[in-house]
Parts: sequence; C-alpha cells; structure tokens
Amino acid sequence: MPGEYRSGVNTELLRMQLGSKEPADVPDKVKNNPIPAEGSPADVAMPPDAIIRIKNLKKVFGQNTVLHDVNFYCPKGHVVSVLGPSGSGKSTMLRCINLLETPTAGEIWFEDQLVNSKETDVDALRAKIGMVFQQFNLFPHLTALGNVELALKKVRKLDKEQAKAVAIEQLDKVGLLDRADYLPAQLSGGQAQRVAIARALAMEPHVMLFDEATSALDPSLVRDVLDVMRDLAKSGMTMIVVTHEMAFARDVSDHVVFMEGGVVFEQGTPEKIFDHPDRDRTREFLQGMINE
Ligand SMILES: Nc1ncnc2c1ncn2[C@@H]1O[C@H](COP(=O)(O)OP(=O)(O)OP(=O)(O)O)[C@@H](O)[C@H]1O
Ligand SMILES: [Mg+2]
Repeated sequence: MPGEYRSGVNTELLRMQLGSKEPADVPDKVKNNPIPAEGSPADVAMPPDAIIRIKNLKKVFGQNTVLHDVNFYCPKGHVVSVLGPSGSGKSTMLRCINLLETPTAGEIWFEDQLVNSKETDVDALRAKIGMVFQQFNLFPHLTALGNVELALKKVRKLDKEQAKAVAIEQLDKVGLLDRADYLPAQLSGGQAQRVAIARALAMEPHVMLFDEATSALDPSLVRDVLDVMRDLAKSGMTMIVVTHEMAFARDVSDHVVFMEGGVVFEQGTPEKIFDHPDRDRTREFLQGMINE
C-alpha cells in the first residue's frame, strides 16, 4: 500500500524556482539543499483513482507566493500526514482542497471532479470533504447536539427526528453521548474538538481534512482526540492530516508529506521520512519536532 506512492516533488519546476527565477520567500535552507537528481521523478505519477490529487498547486496572496508547486495524492482509505514548519503553507494547501482558498494555478481533483472549476458546487463539495480546524469553530449558542444537527438539516435536508438520530449516533461514536446537551463553553477543548469531528462525520464525508486538530488542546486532552482520529483511520476513512503529532504521523499514516517554503520538500512512507530521509532539512525538522 504505502509503497505505491512516488515522490511528489516536481524537480523541473523546483529547479526553475530555485534557479534564476528564485522566489524571494523560499528559505535559504531550501535553496541550499536541492532535490537529489536521482530518486525524485520529475512528475508525480498520479493514479487516476486516487480520491484526492493535487497537481502543480500554486497559491499567491498579493505579492506573496505561498504555494509554489505542490504535488501529492491520497488514495481512498489512506491517511496522508502533512508536516512542516510554521508558514510553510500547510493550512493554505488544505484550505485549497475544499475551496476555503481559491488556488491561483494548478489542479485539485476530488474523485472525478476538478475542484477548482467554475462549475463546482461549493456546498456539495464541502459536504463530501469534511474539515476539522484547530479552533473547533462550533456555534457557541448551540448545544453539542445542535451543532451536529445543524448541517444535517440545512445541507442534508434531514427532518428534525432524522437529524437528531444521526447526530446522536455520531456523538456516541466520539464518546460524547452524555454531553449532547452541553454548550461549547461547558465542554473541554478535547470534547469540543470531538463534537467538531462528529459534526463533520455526520455529513458522511468521503475525505476528512484535519488542520492541527490537537494543537490548541491541553496535553492531557490531546489523546482522546487522537484516539478518535486513529479509530477513524482504522475504519477506512480517507484522511489528510496536518499535524505536529509525530507519533501519530509515524504510526497512522500511509504516506508523509513534508512541506517547506511552499513546496513539497520531501515525501514518502513514514519509514522513509522518519528513518532515512533523502534530505538534511527533513531530518533536521523531524529531529527538532521529536526533541520538543
Ligand atoms: N489570507 C492570507 N493572506 C495573505 N497571506 C496569507 C493568508 N493566509 C496565509 N498567508 C501566508 O501564507 C503563508 C503560509 O501560511 P499557512 O497558514 O498556510 O502556513 P502553515 O504551514 O499552516 O503554518 P502554521 O504551522 O503556523 O499553521 C504564511 O506566510 C502566511 O502569512
Ligand atoms: Mg496552519
């Protein structure tokens, strides 16, 4: 399974970027550590049946090119972890997948649909691509149950009884049946995050995106959320997970993408990235994270 991935670094483009047309915001460390010529095919061979395919993704904010050329894919049922230092473009990349940001160039494919196309029905897309944020984003005036029910009524158009039944089932799955009537302010951060996960799962998404879902939590609460994410991965959910949780990335992922300076700097199996990365910068970053 993990072996079917290829390196997603588009060396041709990266060399262009790192050569005469060097963008101002690629860090020195990236410039000084070019991709080895061997072992990094110029193009990512993307299996057409991979549920998410990101090709030559570029994102510019004003004068600032935040994503230069991002290429990777995620087959159905796999977990891809995305690692990288602050500002490397992880959130921007993730947000492009469900059009919270509009890609400047490149292609994002979800199943057989080109996401960044004028024809995309954004609400329908977001129902199929669930997203969990660092800051939960729950409605403060609604109970846990109310938060999970809302999109079931508004987007899936379930009636009151059906929405309640589905919401209860999802809260039960994340271990929060006994907190259904609590408001977000009455929940711990870990519980609030599990409500946010239940809310996303209630839409029956085909893919789940997690953007540092545990970073805002007290260390004591991280485990419950990671356990829910591990169970979800075991159940076969396709997941793209931006995380600083190295043990999670190593144990749960099929594939690890390391981003730096708006490019996929290196990617591969967890064994490769953690045990024998090709590039010094990858090793240095991971060492720093593990020693934290
Ligand atoms: N809406 C925006 N407008 C302008 N610049 C932005 C915007 N969103 C992000 N950026 C810039 O894009 C770069 C990448 O940001 P991004 O949030 O994607 O990084 P990240 O890898 O998720 O970092 P962190 O680990 O801190 O969450 C940063 O330099 C940031 O300032
Ligand atoms: Mg981020």
